[in-house]
Amino acid sequence: MLDAAKFIGEAENEILTKLNGKGILACSGGQDSTLLAVLANRAAGDRILTVFVDTGFLRIGEKERVKEIFEKFKLNYLIIDESEKFISRLEGVTEPEEKRKIIGKTFIDVFEDEAKKYGAGSLLQGTIAPDWIESGGGVRDTIKSHHNVGGLPLNMKLKLIEPLRDLYKDEIREISRYLGIPEIVQPFPGPGLAVRILGEVTREKLETLKQATEIVEKSVEENARSWDTMPWQFFAILLPVKTTGIHGDKRTYGYTIAIRMIDSIDAMSGTFTKPPWEFLENLSTDITNRVKGVNRVVYDVTNKPPGTIEWE
Ligand code: XMP
Repeated sequence: MLDAAKFIGEAENEILTKLNGKGILACSGGQDSTLLAVLANRAAGDRILTVFVDTGFLRIGEKERVKEIFEKFKLNYLIIDESEKFISRLEGVTEPEEKRKIIGKTFIDVFEDEAKKYGAGSLLQGTIAPDWIESGGGVRDTIKSHHNVGGLPLNMKLKLIEPLRDLYKDEIREISRYLGIPEIVQPFPGPGLAVRILGEVTREKLETLKQATEIVEKSVEENARSWDTMPWQFFAILLPVKTTGIHGDKRTYGYTIAIRMIDSIDAMSGTFTKPPWEFLENLSTDITNRVKGVNRVVYDVTNKPPGTIEWE
């Protein structure tokens, strides 16, 4: 059993010991990096600049939610819109690992720029154990390059500080609760919606996926209270597959949305959620009625393993 108070003391100590002058902190707004931002602020105050990057691959309302938390904890922060840079670098790229590596590299470019402006010598990242284990830093072969590990160039000039690297998600939640950080309902990958649009990412597909994502998240949040447990993650994926459909009495030819809902404790393994059929039926109707260009919804019935949680 983890001793939250003890861990916090040790992490703050590590931050202070390793900090090279000022530090820049990469915050995705997720539970891990938000916890890190709060810890770093407790340890070193304004010597740390917490940076949240709008990649263009965020969900509706995400930036506003993150800003609220930063304000609540009185962080020294910066929110920057780099969406054009991220989207344009992915033009024509379809291979998942290549997408992840480009996104990782772009994050580092942005952080190196901001670090230079701020005069920071260190980069703080909320990497946790599953990130590096699944990125090949552990005993396994590389499964996928999580953006906060695989994307780091070897010649990175900033000194890396990763105080959460031995923790698992349940421990992150426990420490966050202890510090009064609001529970973030579900993890969201650093590369965001870009790895949930299979194949090439375009602005049009991003718009479609944002709408479907909002519908899935709201439906689960409203309905899951009556289920046995809240799924660990629940989201939409846009498939590059068009199928024939019918709307009114007209033929349609539209995209397919896949729904992924998974029960898990630490994201290392999981089983697909078994919600009531009626829930899936309503969700499917909602998506096909409300999201332009989508005429089919499928449900992912794959456990992890063999499937990973994200599709790319
Ligand atoms: P997979 O898809 O590998 O995901 O089963 C395991 C957990 O990690 C999240 N995930 C990421 N988180 N950067 C992150 O910070 C990433 O690049 C990334 N890729 C996947 C995923 O949502 C799940 O919770």
